[in-house]
Amino acid sequence: MNFHKNIVEKSDKEILILNQNILNKSKNFKALSLESGHFLIEDIEKFRNGYKLIKESLGKYADTIFSSDNMICWNRNYSFLRDIFYKNLLYDKELDTSAKTTIWRTYILVYFAKICSNLSGDYLELGTYKGHTAQVLTKKIDFEKLEKNYLLYDLFEWKDGDAHSPLNGLMDKNLYSHVCKKFEKNKNVKIVKGPVPDTLHNTIPEKIAFAHIDMNHWVPEASSLEMILPKMSLGAVIVFDDYGWFCYHQQKIALDPIAEEYGQEILELPTGQGILIKC
Ligand SMILES: C[S@@+](CC[C@H](N)C(=O)[O-])C[C@H]1O[C@@H](n2cnc3c(N)ncnc32)[C@H](O)[C@@H]1O
Repeated sequence: MNFHKNIVEKSDKEILILNQNILNKSKNFKALSLESGHFLIEDIEKFRNGYKLIKESLGKYADTIFSSDNMICWNRNYSFLRDIFYKNLLYDKELDTSAKTTIWRTYILVYFAKICSNLSGDYLELGTYKGHTAQVLTKKIDFEKLEKNYLLYDLFEWKDGDAHSPLNGLMDKNLYSHVCKKFEKNKNVKIVKGPVPDTLHNTIPEKIAFAHIDMNHWVPEASSLEMILPKMSLGAVIVFDDYGWFCYHQQKIALDPIAEEYGQEILELPTGQGILIKC
């Protein structure tokens, strides 16, 4: 870190100005908070009462509360809430509550997507659904300017007997065409309809820089991890959306030994995501 070195090389007057700058900025660095939805609560009434007590117990620190996506924390900076891009997402009337609830996950996803942009290889998303996070990612990191493809995989439907979750959006017969339309101007985004891992066999890129795996089901996730790992560049990242969620614990059980086979380890984040950085 150069901070100390810079200070050593500066005069007392310069240090005073430097310190004053930080203190001035600090005056405008306000406490932020966000309250949105949670998943899997059996007794909402009890939860609300308990949450009210938590806030009361925090006193003035309740100004910094974050309560969303099954996380309640306080006394944090929330860098993403200070970024106009994410702030605009939260104010976007078109965006559904679930996308707003998972904003911290989106911030993490986009952070890793950005740092992988200098690596060799393409980007994948396994489980695209309505294309929300893929669209946020392409906008925030200016994906069009990269000499890479972003391949988006999904079944884009749900039929009786299917193993994957019957999400509401999958009942829309036009989901696939809506997603194609969403990305029609993004020349380097390719949409692949059909079941993973079958669709990966003919389309998987030679080299992979980044992958988001979010199919809410361990069977296709495990098979695709086997296919993706050998193609990842050094430093490439996989973000697993559900790795840390107890309701999807089969994913952890299935994915850990595959990662281990390749000398890799998945990091569980408080958001419930899992991160694998190929090393
Ligand atoms: C939670 S959604 C993905 C959400 C999306 N990543 C986002 O952040 O907006 C899960 C998606 O995985 C898809 N899916 C599940 N199993 C699949 C499989 N075997 N092949 C392809 N897509 C699958 C479902 O159709 C569904 O759209």
